[in-house]
Amino acid sequence: MHFRGSLCTAVLSVALAQGARAQSFDPPNSASHPLRIWTNAAGSYYNDSYLIGNGRLGAAIPGGVASEVIRVNEDSLWSGGKLSRVNPDANDKMSTMQSFLAQQRNPEAARLAGFAYAGTPVSARHYEPLGDIQLAMNHSGSATGYERWLDVENSSAGVYYTVGGVSYKREYIASNPDDIIAIHITASKPGSVSFNVHLRKGQTLNRWEDYTYKVGSDTTVMGGESQGKSGVEFSAGVRIVASGGSVYTLGDYVLCDNADEATIYFTAWTDYRQRDPMNKVLADLSNIGGKSWSSIQSAHVADYQKYAGRVSLSLGKSSDAQKALSTPKRLASIATAFDPELVSLYFQFGRYLFISSSRANTLPPNLQGIWDQEMDPQWGSKYTVNINLQMNYWPSLVTNMMELTSPLYDLIERLHSSGKKTAQSMYGVSQGWVCHHNTDIWADTAPQDNYASSTWWPGGGAWLVHHIIEEYRYTRDTNFLQNYYNTIKDAALFFTEFLTDYKGWKVTNPTISPENSFYLLGTKTTTAITLGSTLDNSLLWELFGSLLEIMDILGKHDNDMRSTLTTLRSKLPPLRVNKNGGIMEWIEDYDETDPGHRHISHLFGVYPGSEITTANMTNFNAAKATVNRRLAYGGGSTGWSRAWLISVGGRLYMPDEVHMSTVALLYNYTYFNSMLDTGPPSAFQIDGNFGGVAGIAEALLHSHEIVTAKSIDTKNMTASGTGDATGVPVIRLLPTLPKKWASNGGGFVKGLRARGGIQVDISWKETGKLDSATITSLTGDLVWVTVGSSVIGSTNGTEISIDGAGSGTFVRLITKKGSSYTVTLK
Ligand SMILES: *[C@@H]1O[C@H](CO)[C@@H](O)[C@H](O)[C@H]1NC(C)=O
Ligand SMILES: *[C@@H]1O[C@H](CO)[C@@H](O)[C@H](O)[C@H]1NC(C)=O
Ligand SMILES: *[C@@H]1O[C@H](CO)[C@@H](O)[C@H](O)[C@H]1NC(C)=O
Ligand SMILES: *[C@@H]1O[C@H](CO)[C@@H](O)[C@H](O)[C@H]1NC(C)=O
Ligand SMILES: *[C@@H]1O[C@H](CO)[C@@H](O)[C@H](O)[C@H]1NC(C)=O
Ligand SMILES: *[C@@H]1O[C@H](CO)[C@@H](O)[C@H](O)[C@H]1NC(C)=O
Ligand SMILES: *[C@@H]1O[C@H](CO)[C@@H](O)[C@H](O)[C@H]1NC(C)=O
Repeated sequence: MHFRGSLCTAVLSVALAQGARAQSFDPPNSASHPLRIWTNAAGSYYNDSYLIGNGRLGAAIPGGVASEVIRVNEDSLWSGGKLSRVNPDANDKMSTMQSFLAQQRNPEAARLAGFAYAGTPVSARHYEPLGDIQLAMNHSGSATGYERWLDVENSSAGVYYTVGGVSYKREYIASNPDDIIAIHITASKPGSVSFNVHLRKGQTLNRWEDYTYKVGSDTTVMGGESQGKSGVEFSAGVRIVASGGSVYTLGDYVLCDNADEATIYFTAWTDYRQRDPMNKVLADLSNIGGKSWSSIQSAHVADYQKYAGRVSLSLGKSSDAQKALSTPKRLASIATAFDPELVSLYFQFGRYLFISSSRANTLPPNLQGIWDQEMDPQWGSKYTVNINLQMNYWPSLVTNMMELTSPLYDLIERLHSSGKKTAQSMYGVSQGWVCHHNTDIWADTAPQDNYASSTWWPGGGAWLVHHIIEEYRYTRDTNFLQNYYNTIKDAALFFTEFLTDYKGWKVTNPTISPENSFYLLGTKTTTAITLGSTLDNSLLWELFGSLLEIMDILGKHDNDMRSTLTTLRSKLPPLRVNKNGGIMEWIEDYDETDPGHRHISHLFGVYPGSEITTANMTNFNAAKATVNRRLAYGGGSTGWSRAWLISVGGRLYMPDEVHMSTVALLYNYTYFNSMLDTGPPSAFQIDGNFGGVAGIAEALLHSHEIVTAKSIDTKNMTASGTGDATGVPVIRLLPTLPKKWASNGGGFVKGLRARGGIQVDISWKETGKLDSATITSLTGDLVWVTVGSSVIGSTNGTEISIDGAGSGTFVRLITKKGSSYTVTLK
């Protein structure tokens, strides 16, 4: 842990030195800051904007000179209220659909599902924008020397330019400790800061607000209600605090004339959390006036760096020519020449977005995090739980942000409660909870939309609880596990009742493989509804196994449940190889209608699951064939799909695929101006940014493989897996390092976390060989350590030495809590 402290101190002293220089009005020179996204032109579109957020409040900053429209959000402003949408005919028709599917009469099942399985109404609630801060600067003449930036080292956005001989700077922060958005405006000449601000809900003169008032001489508030019968009541306010000059209101505008410097404070609340949102807004704005910008700023930077500063990454040095270019130009060039420091920036930007959108007591990031400007955003900007919400949380454990995961678990807890009702009313299942492929902030668990290839899937809960179990594996915190025991158990219990018999197996029925379709055997008939999809089988193999493990860890002696889980687990359809040499996606060897489909659900067992490892070469090689076939047919065709392929390639020791998909993610699925993940037809989608972080980490470090606790040396080392509570994790260093991630002077990663309560720093040489690694044990557990891709138990591979623990291809390390161990090549 000593490492973390020293890094933070270093980062802070840099920030303080820069703060002292700030008033000199030198141009910002963003090119000299490796952790800045920057450019020389203001944004024109939402997808060009720089995002800031404190978990609850978000703002998208285009950086206009004379006028700027800052789109703002509050994470609980969704269309109105909890819905009960379970189809009244679902329960009655379930057994008919199930028997159609058991008889391969899929089209008849699909027809019935279209009427009797879809939700009533068909959609859950959706996210809504809060409105805009309209900022008008009192400038005449055009600007020179324009630069805007987003600094992900200290979490601030900025704009700098010169007009009429005066240079101006605006800095934007979203502070979590002070729960406020603040915009600080300064100028090179005293008395030059003149501007006004205004709030609106709609983007034109179209009014969706119910009131706007000026309050006192420096504040204005605006509010209303979201769509729907029980719409969410919201209120937003801005206040200007200035030194020198004057601040006053006119109509519902706040104006500032001839100040030396000024700060705009913004906040918003809804009745999701506050009984009287307007009073809370006014109280917060009133209180914030007693603090100085610099104290708010330094508390914000310290709070942000507490998480951000824990992990650093270098994939080598970029050239001076690359570093001189603006971010959009660098992204546009990455397909022709690799730019290692740009990838590090992308990695830290993803972590920045996560820290900015997932904080204790906030809602989890949705498809667009917390940033949305559309009243009817694509896919409702909701929580899609057949990959996307889960992917948002993939970077949280391995890149050391465990304190920020609670929003996901809070939502899962609410799903637990609402999903019990859905299990009963929709499936007649008396125990457990279920969730389909989407949810909202009221934990809607009914099926979403009416799409044959996505709606009819009961696996959302089984997938979501996987993250809770994984967090335990990283932290070994049994109190945490105990808190969620019933939620995990009930996710499994639903399936113990819901599974039906098919060909001697126990299968989900009905279901789909998200969001792919297939031809019925020997026909040109396309369908998606099926039973026992590979995704479901793999999810349940993990879930039942994990629950057995957890029962051991927590000392739960329920022998009936234990034997039910064990029996059902053994009757799940096994992974099988299809006629193309890949993992079979469905219960039969169907041809997919889209061989390059963006979802790779049947590779859940590779990542984020752990069923497919080199412990079974048949499945491992088939998984590689699946990746290659998807890619050969144009797969990885969205940002999140590319990101998933990076993680999967990392797990399957495919370094060239990892590199190629990383470059594709940055080049083809990233907006060059904002570095946000593309998502047409939506403005952007944030999952690819998060998934990319996790993918990069997965190429550098694995800890998902388990060996039996009985393994004492490499000679009798045996792979184990989910279900073995005594299993020991293998810390695998540099499993899939692409050549290009080493060839520019070597590289390093510091502060990653691994299962077994381990923190890891690794450095490597230009050749891609390990330089050294430091393994710090936070819990004092037993682990095995290896380098590269040696098969468990093999002595054919790179030999390492660990001080005090010996040497070999695999080294067994009995750790002491708080101690660090150095790993070097033998
Ligand atoms: C950004 O959004 C605008 C407006 O929707 C769109 O016209 C433009 O193509 C998008 N930019 C890119 C690079 O796709
Ligand atoms: C700019 O501010 C000055 C007062 O300082 C005022 O006379 C002038 O009209 C303002 N211009 C605009 C465009 O608001
Ligand atoms: C962040 O750092 C930059 C220099 O990299 C500095 O200009 C800016 O003032 C800092 N912002 C905060 C909020 O500390
Ligand atoms: C690999 O797993 C398959 C089931 O997916 C099983 O049939 C096969 O026996 C396993 N192979 C080995 C070597 O364990
Ligand atoms: C970007 O997409 C195009 C079109 O699919 C493809 O030809 C190209 O190879 C991709 N570029 C990268 C770097 O992946
Ligand atoms: C593993 O090998 C060691 C000696 O190398 C032996 O002492 C031990 O009993 C073996 N364990 C098992 C389970 O075979
Ligand atoms: C040892 O590993 C290398 C590289 O993975 C492989 O090419 C070789 O066949 C292996 N040798 C043995 C004896 O397993």
